Amino acid sequence: MTYHTLDSLPLLKSRQEGLRVLLRVDLNVPIHDGKVTDTTRIERLVPTIKELTNMGCKVVLLSHFGRPNGVFKEEMSLEPLVSVISNKLNTELTFAKNCIGRDTLNAVNSLGPGDIILLENLRFHSGEESNDQDFVGALADLGDLFVNDAFSTAHRAHASTAGLARCLPSAAGRLMQAELEALDAALGNPLRPVAAIVGGSKVSTKLDLLTNLVKKVDRLAIGGAMANTFLYALGTDIGASLCEKELADTARSVLAAADEAGSEIILPSDVVIASEFKQGAQRQTVKIAAVPTDMMILDIGEASAIALSESLKECRTLLWNGPMGAFEISPFDKGTNMVARVAAELTRSNDLLTIAGGGDTVAALSAAGAVNDFSYVSTAGGAFLEWLEGRELPGVVALNG
Ligand code: 3PG
Repeated sequence: MTYHTLDSLPLLKSRQEGLRVLLRVDLNVPIHDGKVTDTTRIERLVPTIKELTNMGCKVVLLSHFGRPNGVFKEEMSLEPLVSVISNKLNTELTFAKNCIGRDTLNAVNSLGPGDIILLENLRFHSGEESNDQDFVGALADLGDLFVNDAFSTAHRAHASTAGLARCLPSAAGRLMQAELEALDAALGNPLRPVAAIVGGSKVSTKLDLLTNLVKKVDRLAIGGAMANTFLYALGTDIGASLCEKELADTARSVLAAADEAGSEIILPSDVVIASEFKQGAQRQTVKIAAVPTDMMILDIGEASAIALSESLKECRTLLWNGPMGAFEISPFDKGTNMVARVAAELTRSNDLLTIAGGGDTVAALSAAGAVNDFSYVSTAGGAFLEWLEGRELPGVVALNG
């Protein structure tokens, strides 16, 4: 995977000329009752923004928020984020109520070196998602250079990702670069043995991912309700557990592909079961062959968590996507927590390179208190999954000039 970075842009010219840099960021952050509940995506943008402003660039922040489908929606305005970004950067920035047009062009052209402006939600214009050439042109008028720091949107071939990269000198920002380097360390050119942990509820949403991973990793641990489908496919009675029975053949073909590729599939040998999924539900740990008909599997058992932890001790790289059990409700988070803490410990002692991302993964690792010890935690959801599926990401491809 080749792509340009900030080091290959003529940023030094900015010292004299104050170049306008269009910086695509992902401000699609979780907001509850008007408050940003997780500012990680904003914090991770700080190094790129600072590097550009320190070079005297005029920084124009472009982002989407939500899925407004091409029309203005007050609740999806980016304006409330100005103060949050300003706080993280420890500097003031201005806001433009439209991401294109004469007023916005005037506002951008009146920036001084090192100034920052945030433009309104790109997806208020339908041309963003359709990668419309006129819309790309209107955005391109606002900048001299394009920097994409939104790896989490790199799976979208939109105007502000693939479109702009094709019509301005462009490069990956430091966050995009860090994400790509971490992904390369995990699957591109990894230290072996490589293990992957894939959890979550449905095989159907992770089929391409599993098929790609078995060809690349040495050990693949499957957890969450997805594991039930595999256990069922192998003839285990899984009682009343969540399971996609119609995908039994598919699960068997993943197992066959793993066998052919020489990748070891790790499934739980014991499980935590309960008759209902609720806090404090009566639970017990049983061997997988002993799940009663009216009980459901909600977590991996202690023996499975220990076996998986031991297996990780023999590995050099770990890629983690998805929880091992129904981690949202205690005590069904125990298996995930235990394995996550061992992975964190191995990372701290430099024995394991750990890369995690996608969906619930970050929440599960945070709840386990392990997230800060992982070597790299991606800010991406869908883009991380598509990358795990082995797909080309249009936002990255467009940066290879
Ligand atoms: C994300 O939050 O994963 C990205 O911002 C992409 O959002 P989207 O799925 O609406 O394109």
